[in-house]
Amino acid sequence: MTLCSICGKEKAVIKIPYEGKYLCKKCFKKYFVEKAEKTLKKANVFSNSSGKLFVVATSGGKDSLNALYVMKTLSKKYGFDVEALLINEGISGYREFTIKALIKVANRLNVPYRIVDVKKHFGFTIDEAAKLFFEGKIEWKPCTVCGVIRRYLLNKVSREMGASYLVTGHNLDDDLQTAVMNLIRGDFQALIRGGVVVKAEHPKLVPRVRPLHYIYEKESLIHSIITELETPYVECSYAPYSLRWNIRELLNKLEAVESGFKYRLMVKIDDLRERFSKYKVQKFTECRLCGEPSAKEICKACEIKLRIMKVLENA
Ligand code: FES
Ligand code: ZN
Repeated sequence: MTLCSICGKEKAVIKIPYEGKYLCKKCFKKYFVEKAEKTLKKANVFSNSSGKLFVVATSGGKDSLNALYVMKTLSKKYGFDVEALLINEGISGYREFTIKALIKVANRLNVPYRIVDVKKHFGFTIDEAAKLFFEGKIEWKPCTVCGVIRRYLLNKVSREMGASYLVTGHNLDDDLQTAVMNLIRGDFQALIRGGVVVKAEHPKLVPRVRPLHYIYEKESLIHSIITELETPYVECSYAPYSLRWNIRELLNKLEAVESGFKYRLMVKIDDLRERFSKYKVQKFTECRLCGEPSAKEICKACEIKLRIMKVLENA
């Protein structure tokens, strides 16, 4: 039996690969919140945070429920408010279960929550968009449509809620996969915009923060189990069709050969981001149709909406 490297008394439940530590349940729970706190503190998120509103984008999955738990815990120390926001994309066999999980955890933590339907705002669900993709009627994969629409609604609704920050549950694995995807696509601007804090580059953009940026997916899973953040652990059925899915497999293989590889690569990429931050050039304007921030005259969400509605009307 391996004992906890911190208390030396209890049985270890997890190994932290990049620190060479073994932790028991109790010490890991503390470690998890402190790690997130350190990450946000280093990025200056808590200076003047008292009285501000942090809206947590909560899908009801393990990572975003962990983010909600961490922010609620830290809110007592730093004096900010926390609310949860869930975007219901309309993905059957998945979202209905995680909505239940969010409601249960939000009630337990005493956090107000808001649920926003994609169908109501855009006129179609992601299931409908996915069907059109598989029939060859649109070129965007389900994850592309889902990602654009989720980001759009999270920003718009959290801004309307009065958020100073939009918190997301991206863990180290997610952020590393995104960085590698951006590298593969040669999207240097997207690569340097990532990190713990994504600053607002337009008055209508809410700055985004990622408390779990240095926390492995495996750590996130174990934390959600030991803190009893009950979630059904279902994956979206469209995930295997994405580039991300393959990158995830590749990075996991490399981690299996070289423990701590993912953490070290993430730190290196963040270091690069800092050095190259002065080369950020993306300028935002406002979408001619909806008025939301956009890099082009018409935002991607409106472009997708117009196209899908047209295909649906002609069906
Ligand atoms: Fe669900 Fe991409 S649409 S993971
Ligand atoms: Zn628009």
